[in-house]
Parts: sequence; C-alpha cells; structure tokens
Amino acid sequence: MSATFRTIWTTAQRDVEVIDQRQLPHAYVVVQLLTYKDADLAIRSMTVRGAPLIGATAAYGIFLAVREMIKEGHDGAFLDEAFSTLRASRPTAVNLFWALDRMRTALDNATDFLEAAWTEAGRIVEEDIETCRMIGVHGLPLIEAIAAQKNSEPVQILTHCNAGMLGCIEWGTITSPIYQAVQKGIKVHVWVDETRPRNQGANLTAYELTRHGVPHTLIVDNTGGHLMQHQMVDLVIVGTDRTTRNGDVANKIGTYLKALAAKDNNIPFYVALPSTTLDMTIKDGLKEIPIEERDQNEVKYVIGKSASGNIEPVLICPETTPAANYGFDVTPARLVSGLITERGICAASEEGILSLFPEYVQNDDLN
Ligand code: MRU
Repeated sequence: MSATFRTIWTTAQRDVEVIDQRQLPHAYVVVQLLTYKDADLAIRSMTVRGAPLIGATAAYGIFLAVREMIKEGHDGAFLDEAFSTLRASRPTAVNLFWALDRMRTALDNATDFLEAAWTEAGRIVEEDIETCRMIGVHGLPLIEAIAAQKNSEPVQILTHCNAGMLGCIEWGTITSPIYQAVQKGIKVHVWVDETRPRNQGANLTAYELTRHGVPHTLIVDNTGGHLMQHQMVDLVIVGTDRTTRNGDVANKIGTYLKALAAKDNNIPFYVALPSTTLDMTIKDGLKEIPIEERDQNEVKYVIGKSASGNIEPVLICPETTPAANYGFDVTPARLVSGLITERGICAASEEGILSLFPEYVQNDDLN
C-alpha cells in the first residue's frame, strides 16, 4: 500500500496544480492555479479544503501573486491586496493565517522575492507531509493497543468529515495512523460519517480509503451514537481546523455530537492535528473561534451522480424553506481524550499542549 499521492504540486513552469475535490469521487479533475485569484477561488469554492491544504494553497497563492507583481510591474500594494484577499477566503481554519504569516515573514526578510516565496511555499508543503507522517507514528500505538485486545477482530474507528490526505498534502492527520496500522498488517475498519451538507465523508474519506484498500462503511451522520451504544466503535478520531490553548477543538459541524456520544459510552475520542492548527492566542473556543456560515443552498440541495451519469444538485426541501449552514462546531476540551500531534500525544489542555510545545510557554497576549 502506498500513502503517497499529493493534493497540491507544481509543474516545470512553476504553475500550481490541485485536485478539484468538488468532483470526487466521480471524476478526478486537475485544476491549474495561475494567479493568486485562482488560489483564492480554489479555497473559497472548496475546490481545495481541509485546514493544512487551505494553508498550503494560500502559501502558493502568495508565490503566484509575487510572480504576477513582477511580471506585470505592479507595486507592493498588489501584494498587500493578495494577502488580504487570501486572508478572507475562509475564516475557521487557522492554518490559513499561519501560512500567510509565514509567507509574509519570508518576504520581509528576502532580497529575491520570487525565490523566497517559492522556497517558503515548498517548505510549508514538505513540512506538512513529514508532520502528518509523524502524527501517524504517534497515533499508531493507540490502534495497536486496541488491536491487542481484539483477538484478530478489526479495530473499529469512527471519523467525521475528511481529515485524510485530501485535507492535507499526503498521509492526512486521522488517516496517517490508520494507513500505518494497515501497513503493519493490523486489521481496521472505519465508520465514515457522510458529513452533510457537503458530504466530505461520503465523497472524500470513502474515496481515499477505497484508494488505499482500507475497509470502511459509510453511515449517515446520525448513526454514530447507535453504533457506540452497541460497542461497535472502539475509537473516534477526528481532525480539527483550530485548537485553542485550552484544548478546545473546532472541527466540521457535527463533531461535538460525536464527542458527546463517545463520552457517554466511554469510547476514546482523539483529535489528530499538526501544530500548525494550534491557535495559542485564544483560550475559549466557544467564544473566540470564528465559525464559518456558508450558503444555504448547500443544505437545501444534495449534489450527486444521477442515473444518467451527470453530477447534479437535487433539491431536498420546499424551495422556499430557509436553511442554516454552520460549517463548524467546537468540542470542549473536557470531551477530548487526547491530541495526537507530530511530537506525541498530549492532554487537551494548556498544560498538555505546553508539555509538547514549550516554545508557546510565553504568550504575553493572554496575560
Ligand atoms: O470544510 P472543510 O472540508 O474544509 O472542513 C475540513 C475539516 O473539518 C477537517 O476535519 C479539518 O480541516 C482537518 S483536515 C486535516
């Protein structure tokens, strides 16, 4: 099994290419990003999505902006505009702001802007790959420990949304321990929440698990509680778009309900994240994490492949019924069994995070 196909890459001409994730699993379509506005649109339209991939796309968006600026003779205001446009592309995943800040610092210290932007965007991508691999190294023992008690029965893992390689560059966060377990011959089975309204579980997680030969079953979002009550889930692992200093976790809408059900049934609920998803400037996730609200039509319509083979939207409610579309919710730290990071597993608490990431001990903003 290989866990290596990439979600973003560059061509010999230094153009940027991504997979159009809106068309998966029905079609594998590659989209070229030639300008920073292409990168911005790719993030806004969810052609690319998932916290680390949003950050990487924004980083390459800045590279493209620098290239345009030089080619077309624009001044620094053009670059400032690119930064502020990309910053506004999506609100919740903190990796976006982290990546843009890193690009800004790289450019502030540069004499050759184009090379600096190219190198820094490339580093962000390469670092994410290694970070996700290490999340797998540290998460694997959790799966091994459960497998040891299961008499060759598969370890039953439930996940929500897509925090797989499609949300990152390679490996993924929640999928990295799973792929590494499968590579070691450990039997796993993944319950895949469909993840309405945009169905990242059905469209993306099921796609990549299929591609990697990992046994899985698609369930509607409301099924998890039932499975947990009947001892059909050993472990829940989800990703996150922003985790606060106190260990509160923002992730795709519906994650909180899974955490509640896991708590009620004594099932471990872990969150896998690269440290680039930590927001150490805030403590209270419920009050301080901006929650994206998206177009109501994503709720009112379901997009799928029709009998005629076309990918098309289908209205599922009266045309005039209003819909609310909150993209994320916040799971309080008290419901999280642990955070699986590239440096190890820690408690979802300030103390736990600082034990692995002592560089964040000083933060004057919060005093
Ligand atoms: O709206 P999306 O598809 O960008 O939401 C993605 C998630 O909620 C993921 O769980 C999260 O970004 C982690 S990806 C490793």
